[in-house]
Amino acid sequence: MFTPRPIGFVSSPYKDTKEIPKGLGVKHAAVGVLKILPEFGPGLVDVEGFSHLFVIWEFDRSHDFDLTAHPPSDNRTHGVFATRSPRRPNPIGLTVVELLHRDGCEIHVRGVDMLDGTPILDLKPYLSSVPEEKLRRGWLAEAEARRRQT
Ligand SMILES: C[S@@+](CC[C@H](N)C(=O)[O-])C[C@H]1O[C@@H](n2cnc3c(N)ncnc32)[C@H](O)[C@@H]1O
Repeated sequence: MFTPRPIGFVSSPYKDTKEIPKGLGVKHAAVGVLKILPEFGPGLVDVEGFSHLFVIWEFDRSHDFDLTAHPPSDNRTHGVFATRSPRRPNPIGLTVVELLHRDGCEIHVRGVDMLDGTPILDLKPYLSSVPEEKLRRGWLAEAEARRRQT
């Protein structure tokens, strides 16, 4: 296995996990900056042509894992791989952000849900080829339906 190394760090308004919005229907609208290390700058050429990016990052402040999780969006327990829990065997996070603009090695984005200083492992252009009607949302769809009934 390779040893991951950060290509940069997230500048986020969130300094504490309690500040990050959680739960059903939450919209992540916070603006942040993906500060890419200068040595990786040439890898950013043409990135600004994409409206959205996948950001792959490390849950660097999670120190253990559980194989089950109790997400804030549901009152039931699920397998960790059926959730986006930060407490996972390989502490890797994935966030889709909207690219606002790039200023050299600084990519200004909307939609951060990471803590300030979070290490960035990779960036990829967001391209979705799954038609809406083929998507299934598992337990989350049931939790959303229950909330609509209450
Ligand atoms: C539910 S996870 C989802 C993250 C990402 N969108 C994903 O799906 O992998 C988001 C939560 O991770 C936690 N978090 C954010 N940045 C973190 C970090 N650097 N280390 C550990 N936990 C973090 C916060 O509690 C935040 O509410």
